[in-house]
Amino acid sequence: MKIVLIGYMSSGKSTIGKHLADKLFLPFIDLDIYIEKKEKKSVSDIFKNKGEIYFRLIEHKYLKEILISDQKVVLSLGGGTPCYADNMNLITTTSAISFYLQTSIKVLVDRLTKEKDDRPLIASLEDNKISEFVAKHLFERRAFYEKANFIIKTEGKSKPEIIKELNVLLH
Ligand code: S3P
Repeated sequence: MKIVLIGYMSSGKSTIGKHLADKLFLPFIDLDIYIEKKEKKSVSDIFKNKGEIYFRLIEHKYLKEILISDQKVVLSLGGGTPCYADNMNLITTTSAISFYLQTSIKVLVDRLTKEKDDRPLIASLEDNKISEFVAKHLFERRAFYEKANFIIKTEGKSKPEIIKELNVLLH
């Protein structure tokens, strides 16, 4: 069984994924970190030197590699992973259970404004443009995210509450 966490940048996929994996005694993979290890370069460097299209190609390749392996794993994706290369179809047709961590635009913008330097898609935006960017981007991406098996609304919930909710749905 593979548990796949989906959601926009800064929606908590990696933090929640790590805690959930610990609780379930499963290994945890963050797809961005997996890509960085395999390519021996940071995601920001890949975007900068090879461009987004190349990133989407290898993102698809490594996602597939993990999904077709036999290992049980909690896997957190990048914010864009479900929206390219038919990845969402791949996820829903393999033996994966997927969860969309749905977070409000306001919370995402507050977090992303503080962390934008590590996010190549927004690093060059003025702070006052982030809100509009996130709103438009989420509008485009929502249809992909909503193909997940379950939608978890994270607003106002603590980490343990979110993990408990995921755990209940898994049993
Ligand atoms: C991206 C999200 C990032 C990373 C890359 C592109 C996106 O992952 O994969 O910068 O398109 O939303 P996180 O969601 O883990 O920040």
